[in-house]
Amino acid sequence: MTFSVKATAPGKIILFGEHAVVYGQPAIAMPVAHLRATAEITPNPSLGGRVLLHAPDVGEDVWLDQAPAGHPLAAAVRIFAQNLPPAEQNLLSNLNITVHSQLPIASGLGSGAAISAALIRALAGLVNRPDYATPAQLSRLTYEVERLHHGTPSGIDNTVVSYEQPVFFQRLAGGEVKIEPFAPHTPFTILIGNTGIAAPTKESVGDVRRQWQVNPAAFEALFNECGWIARQARTALETGQIAHMGELMNQNQAVLEKMTVSSPELERLITAARSAGAWGAKLSGGGRGGNMIALVPEELVEQVKEGLWAAGATGVWQTVVQGQK
Ligand code: PMV
Repeated sequence: MTFSVKATAPGKIILFGEHAVVYGQPAIAMPVAHLRATAEITPNPSLGGRVLLHAPDVGEDVWLDQAPAGHPLAAAVRIFAQNLPPAEQNLLSNLNITVHSQLPIASGLGSGAAISAALIRALAGLVNRPDYATPAQLSRLTYEVERLHHGTPSGIDNTVVSYEQPVFFQRLAGGEVKIEPFAPHTPFTILIGNTGIAAPTKESVGDVRRQWQVNPAAFEALFNECGWIARQARTALETGQIAHMGELMNQNQAVLEKMTVSSPELERLITAARSAGAWGAKLSGGGRGGNMIALVPEELVEQVKEGLWAAGATGVWQTVVQGQK
């Protein structure tokens, strides 16, 4: 019998606290439910026991047993397999695995974590182990894959794509994480603008680390400022002070500029969004390119979208974060 198993996971935006979150400060992230990665697994008994990985979006086909150690799809399958009891590992043979993503790569929208999480969810479905696809387990396994690519990920990406809810996130001393899923008091609208420039997170994270090593006091002050802003933002979210959240986004952007993770292209889009009436705007994710986000009053959505396109955005997406009201 041939049957397919399909699973998806969302992209994410970081509303507050990227980079500083790597150094133990709190951060706030949200899933982007309509921008998703999808993994489909189809058993194929004629593969001689092998597993074929297809990523048609990037024109790639690779056999699992020939994929290099750092190959992202292979890493997700291998990490999943290593976590299965030995008696169940033979279930991972004779498979076609196909992955698609609506998320631009290396753009701060968590495309890597979404692809890994979708794939691990599909694998858990295939071997009939829903206990590997609970938010906590899925997040743990996705984090193992993230570590191979990023070196020192905070864990915020895998957390938000696995829980599929807005989260307050903090990496505590000793590696423990504090994860608090929440629903904001009031709904709000975010526009995401893509600079079209791919910027690997690993590089901006590495640069921040080097600057912190050279100038620890200055960088720790910047990280603390981001933490303070994220805490204020939490109160604003919990009490529905949306316009104040916008001001805090602008303050967070100013600190990210001091950390040197912004870029002229990001700033062009951020300025355009603010001029068109956004309450606030900032880069989201690793920076240096990728995406920016703007918090926009409902009645100005079209105006801000036009402003972003006119300023050179290569993609503009709208996402509404649901509130309790
Ligand atoms: O660029 P992204 O989407 O991978 O976001 C990474 C967020 C950082 O804080 C820059 C890194 C991290 O591990 O938290």
